[in-house]
Amino acid sequence: MARTPLISGNWKMNLNHFEAIQLVQKLSYELRNHDYDKVEVSVHPPFTDLRSVQTVIDADRMLFGLGAQNCHAETSGAFTGEVSPAMLQKMDVDFVIVGHSERRALFGETNEIVAAKALAVATHEMTPIVCVGETLQERESGEAESVVEAQVLGSLASLKGEKLTKTVVAYEPVWAIGTGVTASASDAQQMCAHIRSVIETIKKSAAEEVRIQYGGSVNAANAGELMSMPDIDGALVGGASLDAASFARVVSFQDT
Ligand code: 13P
Repeated sequence: MARTPLISGNWKMNLNHFEAIQLVQKLSYELRNHDYDKVEVSVHPPFTDLRSVQTVIDADRMLFGLGAQNCHAETSGAFTGEVSPAMLQKMDVDFVIVGHSERRALFGETNEIVAAKALAVATHEMTPIVCVGETLQERESGEAESVVEAQVLGSLASLKGEKLTKTVVAYEPVWAIGTGVTASASDAQQMCAHIRSVIETIKKSAAEEVRIQYGGSVNAANAGELMSMPDIDGALVGGASLDAASFARVVSFQDT
């Protein structure tokens, strides 16, 4: 089955809402309508920018989706400083990244927490982008596949039926994030194929449908080769998504 690649820009904790508006306007100018023929695109600004970006996307009928970088698993309540999936849904957010390695490493997010967030996102009719990936130490000690397998099984455990098939998994090896060191296309393909085989053990029919992105130092120069791999269905882009021209070149990878 043909899976439409999803190219997502994770801005992380960068750009205030004025800068965010400028970036999406530039991005919309850089991208041509035919760029969206073969791929889906999403931008993931910080929470404080979401409303501004949503307004611009709506007003100018921009064709990319709106994404968040995180959310809480509960719908409302005494969770000072948190943002709920219901609030994001109300703002027409399409995608929510959950379990990014920075959140797992710096904010103590376990597979159980990630699974609860993924379910909350899917329940609010948004698409979770569930991140998994091994550290350098885990790769060097030959544990990469088993670590990623445990993350996939644990983080997707809450999702059944359509909620599972619509989920996006992002394979982001920790050692490739923000380092300029990309996984080779064949290593990335091997792990993404492994992830698909793990999903097959959860629900056979879901494996062919779930989109698996690669993330970690993706740029215009390496995007084409990575995304030509049979099990890689797009990219989760950090640094290169902060520059409209660079991100647009990643999005139009099929032309390069
Ligand atoms: P970089 O593209 O900057 O390596 O970041 C990857 C990432 O963490 C996207 O979520």
